[in-house]
Amino acid sequence: MGSVSLKIGDGTARFRRASLCSSAVNVLMLFSVITTNLFALYAFTSSPKDQAHPTQHTHKNISFISEQVSLIIREIESSQKKLAQMEKELLGYESIDLSRPNTASELKLFLQRHQLPLGKDSKTGITEMVASVGHSCDKSVDLLSQYMTYKVSGACPDDWSLAQRLILRGCEPLPRRRCFAKSVPKVGLYSFPISLWKPVSDKIVSWSGLGCKNFECLNNKKLGKDCVGCFDLANGYENQRFVKARGKNDFLIDDVLALGSGGTRTGFDIGGGSGTFAARMAERNVTVITATLNVDAPISEFVSARGLFPVYLSLDHRFPFYDNVFDIVHAASGLDVGGRPEKLEFLMFDIDRILRAGGLFWLDNFYCANEEKKKALTRLIERFGYRKLKWVVGEKPDAAGPGKSEVYLSGVLQKPVRV
Ligand SMILES: *[C@@H]1O[C@H](CO)[C@@H](O)[C@H](O)[C@H]1NC(C)=O
Ligand SMILES: *[C@@H]1O[C@H](CO)[C@@H](O)[C@H](O)[C@H]1NC(C)=O
Repeated sequence: MGSVSLKIGDGTARFRRASLCSSAVNVLMLFSVITTNLFALYAFTSSPKDQAHPTQHTHKNISFISEQVSLIIREIESSQKKLAQMEKELLGYESIDLSRPNTASELKLFLQRHQLPLGKDSKTGITEMVASVGHSCDKSVDLLSQYMTYKVSGACPDDWSLAQRLILRGCEPLPRRRCFAKSVPKVGLYSFPISLWKPVSDKIVSWSGLGCKNFECLNNKKLGKDCVGCFDLANGYENQRFVKARGKNDFLIDDVLALGSGGTRTGFDIGGGSGTFAARMAERNVTVITATLNVDAPISEFVSARGLFPVYLSLDHRFPFYDNVFDIVHAASGLDVGGRPEKLEFLMFDIDRILRAGGLFWLDNFYCANEEKKKALTRLIERFGYRKLKWVVGEKPDAAGPGKSEVYLSGVLQKPVRV
């Protein structure tokens, strides 16, 4: 979403745009096929000239032909290589070049391929173990090398913010490291479920790399649309979320659970702030995993201190869950991934994948910058064929300044059974 206006309905235009690179490659491919064919034609038609001297060649000179054929094959192979190189450049995709100087030796070691000792594995068909690392790491190879420079078996540098910078640049997953991450003594943790609403001590989270150095500072900061004072569990609105509505766009958790007719046991919360959705769900015996990065706040540690399960993941990462495993997926404005409309489509399809048939997708106060964006999102959601159990388009007058209202979408949608 973001600045680019969505034109979901215009399927052909979208397709054309998406395959711009591949059409360029196709034209090149066509050109190459035609030229090689012309070359072949020339090679074969030139033989009658030789037959003009029947004293020299009464038969077709087989070795001459095979020589020409192998020339043609070589020509095709080299064109294919050139095309692959061009495509790589067009897509901006390169695998990580470890031969570069200043590449951390730990990175080389981690990425080294290992042949399976007994050869090809009959069950999986693989012959070697390949360590996994995000291909975009190549674009931040200096940062990556910095990240991979440490003392083996020693303490890791205190650099989670460097790790997060890499992740936000698409270097995800990060390589593993052989060092001990900085540990913070977690003293004074409460038992579950008391832990859900107890304030978290400043001392049991790491503040390195953050602007704020305590929760009081965070509480006075607006950390985004889905986290306004969201670390303050005692005062403010956070402890009323999902149980008390501020407006028609706020649904109550019990109402939504009733729509799931008792079958809601597991959930996934996208951009879940301080974990309050998971906390309210936990009180109802629903296990929710909260996806979050530590943007400007120690969110992961806060969520886990509440006795909840944070998963440290950017929204560009394919969800590390199997198909059809969740009963509910909850997402708010964190769903706004920016960029081309296809980006949101990739995300929506991934949400659809992990949600089971009959499961609920709760779109909670999704902020639409304008009417066009709202229509586009609506069209996209409608393409999935979900049943709209609840659907509210809300406007907050003057929310974005005098005379400028903000549009919010809320909905509870049920995934259909597809065959
Ligand atoms: C076939 O062509 C090759 C190279 O053009 C030549 O050296 C050879 O003598 C030819 N053989 C016959 C049987 O004409
Ligand atoms: C949650 O589970 C516990 C233990 O099984 C049970 O006592 C409690 O009533 C349940 N709570 C809700 C809201 O279903």
